[in-house]
Amino acid sequence: MARRAIIIDTDPGQDDAVAILLALASDELEVLGVTAVAGNVPVALTERNARIVCELAGRPDIPVFAGCDRPIARPLVTAEHVHGKTGLDGPALPDPVMALQTAHGVDFIIDTLRTRAPGTVTLCPLGPLTNIATAFTRAPDIVPRVQEVVLMGGAYFEVGNITPAAEFNIFVDPEAAQIVFRSGAPITVMPLDVTHKALTTHARVEAFRAMGTEVGRMVAEWTDFFERFDKEKYGSQGAPLHDPCVIAYLIRPELFTGRHINVEIEVASELTRGMTVADWWRVSGRAPNAMFMGDIDAEGFFALLTERLARL
Ligand code: RIB
Ligand code: CA
Repeated sequence: MARRAIIIDTDPGQDDAVAILLALASDELEVLGVTAVAGNVPVALTERNARIVCELAGRPDIPVFAGCDRPIARPLVTAEHVHGKTGLDGPALPDPVMALQTAHGVDFIIDTLRTRAPGTVTLCPLGPLTNIATAFTRAPDIVPRVQEVVLMGGAYFEVGNITPAAEFNIFVDPEAAQIVFRSGAPITVMPLDVTHKALTTHARVEAFRAMGTEVGRMVAEWTDFFERFDKEKYGSQGAPLHDPCVIAYLIRPELFTGRHINVEIEVASELTRGMTVADWWRVSGRAPNAMFMGDIDAEGFFALLTERLARL
């Protein structure tokens, strides 16, 4: 079976970490590289965290690159209040041993898309879209070569998590998001409308712990830490596992349902900056530019996640 080649662009973040582990545990996917971006925590930490996660998966061979250290046109906003000071708070973690690649993450994205056959590389942004937008701007020739952009970000019915109007990844770099959504590349969106239905309930976290593996223990302790914010804010039964939804879609797309609609990004208003204006009811007349997911088979998602993580 041909493995699907992907680049994971990420700001670990406990949920990013679980997404990376899921990708590395799945034979359907070939992770060409991991590019870190400033988001949940500064890029010096997100690149470090990405290397820690690859080593936890037993994959120090995965090339990890540092990408952009701030949004295209705004100061960086981080989320230590959710993810802790390190970005991976929860369990004690070893320092990474594997080296960071010397190339910049944006150059890796451009070079990979230029050398691989057109339509054979999928980009999986799990954080702000700064690296992707910078690559598209610097090398417009790579856009038609992208197989698909499958990203975690945005919200419609669920509205915002960092402001009343905006989801964090899009809020941090709305200009980057506008570039990506207007690029013409095929885009699939995993918004809060979906990820807030993928909650790490007590039973699901205990299933991670019951694996009896280092990975299972780490994931359980990450979710124990990470869920505080959402449980307090939403009174929910656990944390939304946002980023693994992107990887699960690549493995079992039938777990998700959505609509091909127009999505525009608010960049002008300070009140609603970063809002994904998703034309779910198709009233705008604007051309569809994204497959915007609206629902998830949460039981199926966690069954897949637990089965795959147990392989590591
Ligand atoms: O809003 C949730 C998103 O912001 C997730 O990707 C989380 O890791 C943070 O990056
Ligand atoms: Ca993330």
